[in-house]
Amino acid sequence: MTGIDGKVVAITGAGSGIGEASALLLAARGAKLVLGARRSDRLEALGARIEANGGTAVWKTTDVRRRGDLADLVAYACGRYGALDVLVSNAGIGPISPFDELRVEDWDQMIDVNFRGVLHGIAAALPVFRKQSTGQFVNVVSTAGLRIVPNQAVYAATKNAVRTVSEGLRQEAGPDLRVTMISPGYVATEFADSVTSPTVKSQAPAVDFSVSPDDIARAVAFAIEQPSNVDVGDIVVRPTAQS
Ligand SMILES: NC(=O)c1ccc[n+]([C@@H]2O[C@H](COP(=O)([O-])OP(=O)(O)OC[C@H]3O[C@@H](n4cnc5c(N)ncnc54)[C@H](OP(=O)(O)O)[C@@H]3O)[C@@H](O)[C@H]2O)c1
Repeated sequence: MTGIDGKVVAITGAGSGIGEASALLLAARGAKLVLGARRSDRLEALGARIEANGGTAVWKTTDVRRRGDLADLVAYACGRYGALDVLVSNAGIGPISPFDELRVEDWDQMIDVNFRGVLHGIAAALPVFRKQSTGQFVNVVSTAGLRIVPNQAVYAATKNAVRTVSEGLRQEAGPDLRVTMISPGYVATEFADSVTSPTVKSQAPAVDFSVSPDDIARAVAFAIEQPSNVDVGDIVVRPTAQS
């Protein structure tokens, strides 16, 4: 299947930011959305908004740290729509901090959500994609993995773990499955809310040059809409002013 119209697209972390913007754009272009995240009120509101705009969406409360939740999300998509064409693994958190603060619980959370969460998505969707002989993984990584800077090393490591896994998966995927990485730079979302470090909170940039979640959603759509023999491997979208 080529294009976006009619594709079944599941998105994790769909209730806000990049996930929400991607869901709205893809639904407007005819995709059937399956929305996953922990805050069900957000998903319900987004689902209602998509339906009110004439689109199609269902939602399921999903914690990507739990393998079973991803299995349930994928099964729900297949049950409701008979297939899953794309899994956008977008859920992520960024409680970044200096190493000296030893915020080990934050490190663990980033590993669990940003890395294990993507693995759980692969475990859930890969058998479905194999059975269908078609499917696409879209994994949201980050420019933080391309330019390592202080305070962001653990976050960057989780994103680069996904980068490594995505490339390995692509090589194993064969001619039928596509694997895409989207690397956003600074995007205006609620992402910084997960920061717990007072040091990092006090370092908020004076000038906000971030791009909007819609700017990343267009990259997600671009990767999905290509013909099935065209696998967009890696898209980097950052603010022009980002160093
Ligand atoms: N904003 C940026 O500058 C930026 C830059 C590069 C990359 N990214 C990446 O972009 C992705 C989306 O982030 P965003 O900027 O759109 O921030 P966001 O608005 O905070 O969105 C993150 C989403 O992830 C969900 N989430 C968090 N933990 C989860 C869990 N355990 N299970 C399921 N869902 C979970 C959140 O929903 P719930 O809390 O309801 O679960 C939330 O909707 C992330 O992977 C992030 O690393 C962001």
